[in-house]
Amino acid sequence: MDGHVKKQIIDQFETNKRSHAGLHYTVPSVDTYPYQWFWDSCFHAVTLSYFDPERAKEELRLLLKGQFKNGMFPHIIYWQRVQNSPFPDIKWGKRHSSSITQPPVLAAAVWRIYEATGDKTFVRLMLPHIHAFHRYLLTNRDPKGINLVGLMNPDESGEDNSPRYDHVLGLSDPRHQFVDNFRARLQLVDDWKQSRFVMKSQVDLKHWVYDVPFNCILAESLRLTSLLAESVGEQRIATYSHVKATNVRSAIKKHLLHQHLYQPVFGPKLRRIHARTWALFMPLYAGVATREEATYVVEHFLRHKREFALPYGVPTVSISEPSFDPSGDWKGDWWVGTNWRGPVWMASNWFVLQGLLRYGYREDAERVYRSSLHLLKQSGLREYYDPLTGKGHGASGFTWGGLVLDMEQLLIPPSR
Ligand code: GLC
Repeated sequence: MDGHVKKQIIDQFETNKRSHAGLHYTVPSVDTYPYQWFWDSCFHAVTLSYFDPERAKEELRLLLKGQFKNGMFPHIIYWQRVQNSPFPDIKWGKRHSSSITQPPVLAAAVWRIYEATGDKTFVRLMLPHIHAFHRYLLTNRDPKGINLVGLMNPDESGEDNSPRYDHVLGLSDPRHQFVDNFRARLQLVDDWKQSRFVMKSQVDLKHWVYDVPFNCILAESLRLTSLLAESVGEQRIATYSHVKATNVRSAIKKHLLHQHLYQPVFGPKLRRIHARTWALFMPLYAGVATREEATYVVEHFLRHKREFALPYGVPTVSISEPSFDPSGDWKGDWWVGTNWRGPVWMASNWFVLQGLLRYGYREDAERVYRSSLHLLKQSGLREYYDPLTGKGHGASGFTWGGLVLDMEQLLIPPSR
């Protein structure tokens, strides 16, 4: 690892360090995202496991304090309100947190900490909470009983304005304004609040997206949880997680696979969403794709110059999509970015790299790592990057670049 990049990451984590109840956590960006975010904290813990594993544990232990009684982790926790923040004051219907969730990356983060420290007490502390979250997702978020979890709001995917959700939000123009997208998502927040956070009927399902990344992350989270539980002798959690991991993987195959590609479905009738986004590669992360399906998506999409093979890495949306918009700085306004509609993000790179390695695409994985490192050197720690120019956009001093430490480690052959 380039010493300068590593130092930059460590310094940024120091700048973004906050504390509550005697535990440290990290804000994704001091100026733009000054609270604790659920999946961000998991990414932070993965990064911190390389230079401060104790702080990595604290970050996750603090998340537990925000977990709802029903097992859900809210995606934002407001430990202390920040005045004059550009982050909008959204009325979620909860006092100290949001009322929606984000992808279950927690087990992956605990796994990394366990690898780094061998701390079984920490694993035993985390397991019941991860298990409760899985149970919440597989009961409250699977009203059709199909072993897939549905998202009630695009923000739950972590890819807030991805074109995968345009249709369910009623946005037919692929180049609509960010503000219109945001307004439609706020309406869903309001609807959820009005229903007092209870699923009522099939009607509620009309915006629901059974998405590929979320369910792939869930399948992998269940698999890792079963391994963690085995290693500390928690047999009941191990068995549940193992069975559910198999069920979710089968359901992804059954409901999301269409003509060699895995695509999300939505609504009560599970109608298909066709959008070429980086999500096409997520079945590799979960080990769901067959060898043929993996070859197909790598050869026809990942390596294809008119799809995802762009100069600065894997864009979040294929250049072939009408919604593809790689640039777009905020120009002082929070809502003018293009975010998940084309730019490269470090977390999507991190997932893609792991999937490629799982299927033996080592050179492609190395390319993802090299382009990530290159972006950090050229443009610093930014929220996202233009895949055509490498220019950084969105929030500054953004933490996700820290994931390159893990990408580098993952590329070291297993015989280490
Ligand atoms: C943006 C991202 C989301 C992330 C949040 C905080 O909203 O889309 O995934 O959790 O910022 O970094």
